[in-house]
Amino acid sequence: MSSEKPINSVSAAIQQSLQHISLGTLCKSIATWGLILLLLYTVLFNHPCCSQTMNRFALFKLKWPPLSPNNATTSANVTTTPTSISHIVFAMVSSVNTWKHRKSYVESWWRPNVTRGYIFLDRDPSQRFHPWPSSSPPFRVNAPVKFRLNRKYATQVRIVRTIMETFMQGDKDVRWYVMADDDTVLFIDNLVEVLAKYNHTEYFYIGMNSESVSSNVNFSFEMAFGGAGYALSYPLAEALSTKVDGCIQRYPNVYSSDFILQTCLADFGVPLTHHRGFHQIDLHGDISGLLSAHHQSPVLSLHHIDVVDPIFPSMNRSASVNHLMEAAKVDHSRLLEQTICYQRKNNWSFSTSWGYSAHIYENIHPRSFLLLPIETFRPWLRIFKPPFYMFNTRSLTNDPCDAPHEFFMESVEKTRGNQVVTTYTRKSPRNLPPCSSSGNHSANHISKIQVFSSATTLKKAGLMECCDVEETADMNITRIKLRACMKDEVIA
Ligand SMILES: *[C@@H]1O[C@H](CO)[C@@H](O)[C@H](O)[C@H]1NC(C)=O
Ligand SMILES: *[C@@H]1O[C@H](CO)[C@@H](O)[C@H](O)[C@H]1NC(C)=O
Ligand SMILES: *[C@@H]1O[C@H](CO)[C@@H](O)[C@H](O)[C@H]1NC(C)=O
Ligand SMILES: *[C@@H]1O[C@H](CO)[C@@H](O)[C@H](O)[C@H]1NC(C)=O
Ligand SMILES: *[C@@H]1O[C@H](CO)[C@@H](O)[C@H](O)[C@H]1NC(C)=O
Ligand SMILES: *[C@@H]1O[C@H](CO)[C@@H](O)[C@H](O)[C@H]1NC(C)=O
Ligand SMILES: *[C@@H]1O[C@H](CO)[C@@H](O)[C@H](O)[C@H]1NC(C)=O
Ligand SMILES: *[C@@H]1O[C@H](CO)[C@@H](O)[C@H](O)[C@H]1NC(C)=O
Ligand SMILES: *[C@@H]1O[C@H](CO)[C@@H](O)[C@H](O)[C@H]1NC(C)=O
Repeated sequence: MSSEKPINSVSAAIQQSLQHISLGTLCKSIATWGLILLLLYTVLFNHPCCSQTMNRFALFKLKWPPLSPNNATTSANVTTTPTSISHIVFAMVSSVNTWKHRKSYVESWWRPNVTRGYIFLDRDPSQRFHPWPSSSPPFRVNAPVKFRLNRKYATQVRIVRTIMETFMQGDKDVRWYVMADDDTVLFIDNLVEVLAKYNHTEYFYIGMNSESVSSNVNFSFEMAFGGAGYALSYPLAEALSTKVDGCIQRYPNVYSSDFILQTCLADFGVPLTHHRGFHQIDLHGDISGLLSAHHQSPVLSLHHIDVVDPIFPSMNRSASVNHLMEAAKVDHSRLLEQTICYQRKNNWSFSTSWGYSAHIYENIHPRSFLLLPIETFRPWLRIFKPPFYMFNTRSLTNDPCDAPHEFFMESVEKTRGNQVVTTYTRKSPRNLPPCSSSGNHSANHISKIQVFSSATTLKKAGLMECCDVEETADMNITRIKLRACMKDEVIA
């Protein structure tokens, strides 16, 4: 998909930079090479003294730009084994000031002794976080910058240099580096499945732009927003590790780490591969409308947990995130996947977002309508004119035929008989009269919705499931059974 172009552009870039080497730089290079050779000598021929061979080796790699980009792929571990969680290194940028209250977001998805990666801090956490818990990723402190830079942008420079510093940790058998913030929640099982579909021996920059039109206009529609998280293939991270400082110096006035990276990658011809499912969440307020109508692509991340309201009403932010994670642990393939079905005898429509919410409408609405997120949230910045969002929305309404009864996940359990049951309870009374045009069938008495799904069959990414509404003895509980759709089944 993207292998040829980047390689040509990289060699062009290298040629160009070679042409611009002045005498002074040449002398400097000779000195550097002397040092490198000395270092190489030490590494190769030295004795038990040097236990930190790997670090030295990483340093060595950093100073030695790839001779030919065609060789970039050779250093990756080319195997045909499927990509697993062990092939990914995660790097989260944090700071001593934010870590305390954002730690729980990272720990919600981090799996000690399973996931590999680091939290990068701006300074030594010293006694404040002592002892560093094993439930958190190990920390690293970003190295000081050795060149002059625009101090206004120091934090952004620190963030973008984290890519290089992560690579320099020298982890073995890495296929992907995933970068994120400390207020990003990652859904790593879905992430593994998505990354496994790409060829990790080629250059790949995979992420997503913002939900907010103005953010994309200000930065770029072709930029991966770092809070949402993005992935760099190993050879690309390797190449960047020698190039990031050059980019920072070439573009001293480019604002934001993400934009520096995109500018840098554009210079050697690597475009963004947009992948839905990474969520920057450049939104404010209640994002339940968005999470209740997630597009049919596995959810990979949620960012700005601190900016938006807690995603479950009546829970604080960290408890909300952990609650969603309980569902993710049971079935990551269905998490936030929207399923729609109808109960004809009442003229009701059901829309469920697995592991999160369920809605009842007292009317038969087409799927195309129910797939639109309800605009429960507010724009990132109001100083701009609409359109605010990169997707269509439905307005909040008090029309009893269009406003849903809202239920949020209370519990997720495996049952006997290989089923998973998620139970959704009513958020609050709807306080509207029944929908008259569809026959006055009020749903006010429904207090719980139970959704049954298979515990053994994962949902196929990108395909919508179908469902059936089942009668129960209890008038106040509705049961919904998810199932694969039949061939060409029309749900209307
Ligand atoms: C890879 O690098 C080696 C030197 O290490 C060089 O001889 C070879 O030509 C390079 N391969 C390609 C395809 O450029
Ligand atoms: C991780 O592994 C280390 C050493 O093997 C062990 O001491 C520690 O308890 C493990 N931590 C968890 C959370 O499993
Ligand atoms: C390559 O992958 C194999 C199998 O996963 C692993 O055993 C080996 O250490 C890796 N080699 C390098 C250089 O990372
Ligand atoms: C991955 O890319 C490399 C380099 O372009 C290529 O040699 C290899 O065949 C590709 N692997 C797959 C599975 O497509
Ligand atoms: C876009 O640029 C304007 C003007 O420079 C600035 O005020 C605003 O904060 C920026 N918006 C975003 C989303 O960064
Ligand atoms: C959030 O709620 C949980 C569970 O109710 C509680 O243990 C935790 O201390 C709360 N966190 C904050 C920051 O209030
Ligand atoms: C469902 O709504 C339609 C109008 O949209 C109405 O004609 C029909 O009688 C209703 N069915 C029931 C069972 O109320
Ligand atoms: C629904 O109830 C309202 C008021 O109670 C009534 O005016 C209307 O005709 C009813 N609609 C149907 C379809 O029965
Ligand atoms: C349960 O449903 C019945 C029959 O519709 C209703 O009378 C009762 O109020 C409902 N109970 C609750 C708790 O909603």
